[in-house]
Amino acid sequence: MKTYKIACIPGDGIGQEVVPAGEEVLRVLAEHLGSFKFDFETFKWGGDWYRAHGEMMPADGLEALKSKDAILFGSAGDPHIPDHITLWGLRLKICQGFDQYANVRPTKILRGIDAPLKRCESKDLDWIIVRENSEGEYAGVGGRVHQGHPTEVATDVSVLTRVGVERVIRYAFKLAQSRPKKHLTVVTKSNAQRHAMVMWDEIAVQISKEFPTVTWDKELVDAMTARMVNRPSSIDTVVATNLHGDILTDLAAALAGSLGIAPTGNIDPERRYPSMFEPIHGSAFDIMGKGLANPVGTFWSCVMMLDHLGEHQAAITLMNAIESVTENKSLHTRDLGGQATTIDVTQAICSIIKK
Ligand code: IPM
Ligand code: MG
Repeated sequence: MKTYKIACIPGDGIGQEVVPAGEEVLRVLAEHLGSFKFDFETFKWGGDWYRAHGEMMPADGLEALKSKDAILFGSAGDPHIPDHITLWGLRLKICQGFDQYANVRPTKILRGIDAPLKRCESKDLDWIIVRENSEGEYAGVGGRVHQGHPTEVATDVSVLTRVGVERVIRYAFKLAQSRPKKHLTVVTKSNAQRHAMVMWDEIAVQISKEFPTVTWDKELVDAMTARMVNRPSSIDTVVATNLHGDILTDLAAALAGSLGIAPTGNIDPERRYPSMFEPIHGSAFDIMGKGLANPVGTFWSCVMMLDHLGEHQAAITLMNAIESVTENKSLHTRDLGGQATTIDVTQAICSIIKK
C-alpha cells in the first residue's frame, strides 16, 4: 500500500490547533478509504524553537523535509518576535529553499457560508489565484544604511526575472486551461511600475500564444479589487506578483465569507521538492489556545495536498465532507458567527467521512 510521508509544522498560535486537526482528518480519511496510508512526522519549529535555539528552524532543517511527499504547515508569527524574523526564518525559508514558486489560492463560497457580497450568487465566485511565490516584492533585496541618523536610507527592491515570470505565468495559463471557463486574468501595475511590470506584461503576451484555447485579459491591481467586488463572475483564474497576490487573496477570502476557510498550496510544479499546504489565516494570537480556531482552512488545504499527491477521489471525499459541515450552521466557528469549537468541527468531519 502506498504510504505518503508528510511533515507537519504547526508553527505558532492557532497553527498548533489546526495542524493536529488536519492530521487527524487525513488519518481517518486514509483508514476509511483503505487504499493509502500516511506517515506523519511533526517538527516543532517556530517561536518557541527560536527562544530556545535563536533560530526559527535548524540550519539543516530543509534536509529533514526533503524526502517528504508534502508538508502541512500551520502558521508562523509570535507577538514577542519581529514578524520579518518569524517569516524569513521559517515559512519563506521553506518556500524559497524548495523553490515553491506557485502559491495557489482557490476561493469559492462553500455551501452554507454567508458571504458579504449580497449581489453575488455563490456560482459567481469561483476563483483560483496564482501568486508568484519566489521573487518580486518578496525577493529580500534591499538594505538599510545610516540607521537612526537623519540621513537614513532603506530600500526593498522588487526583482522580477524572465525565468521567474515565464514559469509562473505558464503555470497559471495551464491551470486556467484545466478549468471549465478557461479564462485567465493577468494582474499588473505597469502604468506606474515601468520596468519589471512592463516585462511581466510582455511575457504574458508571449506565453498566451502557447495556450490558444485560453481567453485572457489584463487588469491593473487597483482596478482588480473593484472588479472582484463588482463583477466577480468575470473572474476565473488569476495570476499576480507576490505582493499583489498577497493582498488580493485576503480580499478574496473575505469576500467568500472568512479568512478562516481559505487554503493555500505552495507548489513546486516540477516536483523536485515537497510542496507545502497551509491555511491562509496566520497565527491569530488573540484566540490561540481557546479551541476557537476554524480548522476548515486547514482541511481545504489538505484537499489541495491530496490532489497534489494524485489522490483525487480522496480529495473529493474530503471536500464533500467539508461542505456538509459548513452547510450546518451549528458547526460554524466564531469567525463565521457561530459557537462551534475546533474539536466540534473536526469530529463532525471525521464522522461524516466514516459514514
Ligand atoms: C500570506 C501571509 C504572509 C505573506 C505573511 C504572514 C507574511 O499574509 O501567506 O498571505 O504575506 O506572505
Ligand atoms: Mg497574506
